[in-house]
Amino acid sequence: MSKPSICVVGGGFVGLTTAIVLAQHGHPVSLVEASPERRSALAAAKVPFFEPGLAEALATELAQGRLTIASDPTKALATSEIVFLCVGTPSGADGSVDLTFVERAAGDVGRALRDRAGYQVVVVKSTVPPGTLEDVVVPAIARASGKPPGDAWGAASNPEFLKEGAALRDAQEPDRIVVGATDARAEAAMRALYADAKCPQVFSNPRTAEMIKYTANSFLAVKIAFANEMANLSEKVGVDWYDVVAGIGPDPRIGPHFLRPGVGFGGSCFPKDLAAIQHVGREAATPLTLVDAALHHNEVQPLRVVEMLKEELGELRGKRIALLGLAFKPDTDDVRETRALPIWRALRERGAEVVCHDPMAMETFRTLAPEASFAKTVEEALRGADAAVLQTEWAEYRALTPAQIASWMHAAVLVDGRRCFEREAFDGTRVRYRAVGLGR
Ligand code: UGA
Repeated sequence: MSKPSICVVGGGFVGLTTAIVLAQHGHPVSLVEASPERRSALAAAKVPFFEPGLAEALATELAQGRLTIASDPTKALATSEIVFLCVGTPSGADGSVDLTFVERAAGDVGRALRDRAGYQVVVVKSTVPPGTLEDVVVPAIARASGKPPGDAWGAASNPEFLKEGAALRDAQEPDRIVVGATDARAEAAMRALYADAKCPQVFSNPRTAEMIKYTANSFLAVKIAFANEMANLSEKVGVDWYDVVAGIGPDPRIGPHFLRPGVGFGGSCFPKDLAAIQHVGREAATPLTLVDAALHHNEVQPLRVVEMLKEELGELRGKRIALLGLAFKPDTDDVRETRALPIWRALRERGAEVVCHDPMAMETFRTLAPEASFAKTVEEALRGADAAVLQTEWAEYRALTPAQIASWMHAAVLVDGRRCFEREAFDGTRVRYRAVGLGR
C-alpha cells in the first residue's frame, strides 16, 4: 500500500528535518519554502545552517526522488493527504508569539482545499500557545476553504521535541509522539501515520498537545536553572556538584539527566518558549513564578565565570581572555540566545581584550557582536592569553591537553563553563582550573 503523500510547509530546522525523516519512511514529500534563496539552496542539497548529517540525508532523499522542493506550493498543498505546518513563530517584545506566518500558511492550505476532493489532515508542528490550533488555525482554514472541518479536512497539533545537534536521530527515534486532533477522523489518520513508531504515543486534544510542548521545555529549563543554582552553592561550600548528582540521580523521581551545570541555557527554544508561556500565564492571570525565576537566573548565571576570572586574575582590564565556544551548544552554528554574548559583553565592559573562537559559529556570532575579535584556531586564541573561558563543549576543546593549554597560555587560567574536564587532569601542571559547580 502506498504511503500517504505529505506536504511540509516551512524549510527551517524543524520543517526540513520532518520532511527528510518522513521521506526516509517512504512517504512522497513536497517541501514548500517561501524564500527563493533557501528554496534553490535546498534543491541543490545545501542546508543553510549546520546540523550533523542533515545535508547528506537531504541529498539522498532528493536523489531517490522521495523528497521534492515544491516549485508550485498550491499544487503541493492540493495534492497532499497530510500537510505539516512548520513555519516560524517570532516573539513579540512582550514574549507573545507572533502567529502571522502560521495564519498565512493556514490561509494557503485553506485556499488549496477549496477545489480539492478527498480528505486532508493539517498538522501544526510549529510551537504555538495553547488554543492556537482551535482558535486561529482551524478558523483560518475554514474561512479560506469555505469548508468546515469534518468531511473534507481535519487538524491536529503534533509538537516536535527534537534537539539541535541531534535533530535527525531525535526525529528518527523520538522518545514519544504527542498528537492532539480536532476529531476522530483526523486522529485516526495520525495514528495510521505513526503506526510503526516504537515509542509511547500520547493522543489528546489540540490544547493539551500544545500545553505539553511548553511544559516540557519549561520543566527542562527550570531543571537547568535549579541545577546551576545548586551547583553554584556546591562550589561555595567546597563540594563537586557532580558528586551531588551521583547521589540524587538514582532516585527515579529526580533522575541523573539534564543536570549539567554551566553558564546557562541558550538556543531558539528555551528562552523564547519560556517567555511565551510566561505571557500566556499573565494573560490567564496565573503568573508563572518558577519560569520567571529560571529566566532571571539564566541572565545572571553567565556572569559566574566572570566572577571566577576576577577571583583568579584580579583586575580584568587589559587582560587577554580567550572565549572558546560561541554556539549555544556544540554541533551547531546557532548563536541565538547564546550565553557567549553576555560573557563577551561583561568582559569587554571590564576592559578585557577578548579573543573569540568557535569551530563553526564565528560568522553567526559576528552578526551579534560586529566588534568581536576572532582567532582562526584554538591555538591562536590561547597563545599568550591570561585566561580562557570555555562556553561551548565542542569535541575540539575537550581534546585539548593540559600540556597544550599550559604551553600556549600566558597565565594559564582555565574557567570551564561547561564542565568539560576532570580537575585531576591539571594536577601537577601550571594550569589553574576552575569550573562551575566545582568546589575547591
Ligand atoms: C530544546 C529541547 O531539549 C528539545 O526537546 C526541544 O524540542 C527543543 O528545545 C525545541 O523546543 O525545539 P535545544 O534547544 O536544541 O532543544 O537544545 P538542548 O540540548 O535542550 O540545550 C538547550 C540549552 O541548555 C543549551 O544551551 C545547553 O547547553 C543547555 N543545557 C542543557 C545545560 O546547560 N545543561 C544541561 O544539563 C542541558
